[in-house]
Amino acid sequence: METAQRPPIRVVVFDAYGTLFDVYSIGVLAEQLFPGKGDALTRLWRERQIDYTRLRTLSNRYQPFDVVTRDALRWTADALGLALTEAAETQLMARYAQLSAHADALDALRALKAMNMRLAILSNGTPAMLDVLVEHTGMQGMFERVLSVDAVGQYKTAAAAYQLAPDAFGLPAREMLFVSSNGWDACGAAWFGYTTIWINRSGLPAERLGVTPDATGDSLHEVVRFITTRT
Ligand code: LAC
Repeated sequence: METAQRPPIRVVVFDAYGTLFDVYSIGVLAEQLFPGKGDALTRLWRERQIDYTRLRTLSNRYQPFDVVTRDALRWTADALGLALTEAAETQLMARYAQLSAHADALDALRALKAMNMRLAILSNGTPAMLDVLVEHTGMQGMFERVLSVDAVGQYKTAAAAYQLAPDAFGLPAREMLFVSSNGWDACGAAWFGYTTIWINRSGLPAERLGVTPDATGDSLHEVVRFITTRT
């Protein structure tokens, strides 16, 4: 039975980087290029990249995600005292364009499709970056819509970014399950009004932001379980 607290889920909306695609899969190359520093480079690069998306959005200075990603890489190399040659930068950016899918992603997507769920991506990535990743990881045909914040020039957690999926599907956010492995993104989506699940892949503590996702799990299989037990 449908209640105000538990509306039906009609669409599953996935974050991309970290959720479907493994941002740490560049670690091997980073370690080859900078022995002993690969892990630090990969983590700091990701943090700086997200910092820059927030700063640019707060100050209304949008630049596309590939530009932000390159800037963050250069800053991180400087911060770690690494000599980032043009060739190394090109290699790392090329690897970033072709990240691996998380091992659970395709299985979960197939299971959701088999349940006739409508699927979408809503990501900070540019449309071109997302298209390449979807194709490279064999996810083509899975998503009804691949939505990029590039359309509104504001990164998550801006409301205009989260509004893209309700607009695209003509449905209220509460009838969509927003899936993210980024705790801050799950919180942002919950604030906006989505039903949310946080896929806490690395056992991080819950964000202290005064908002709790509707569910938490450690892999994308939890998304299938969430939908199954709800309908
Ligand atoms: C994305 C980043 C936030 O895909 O992971 O939007």
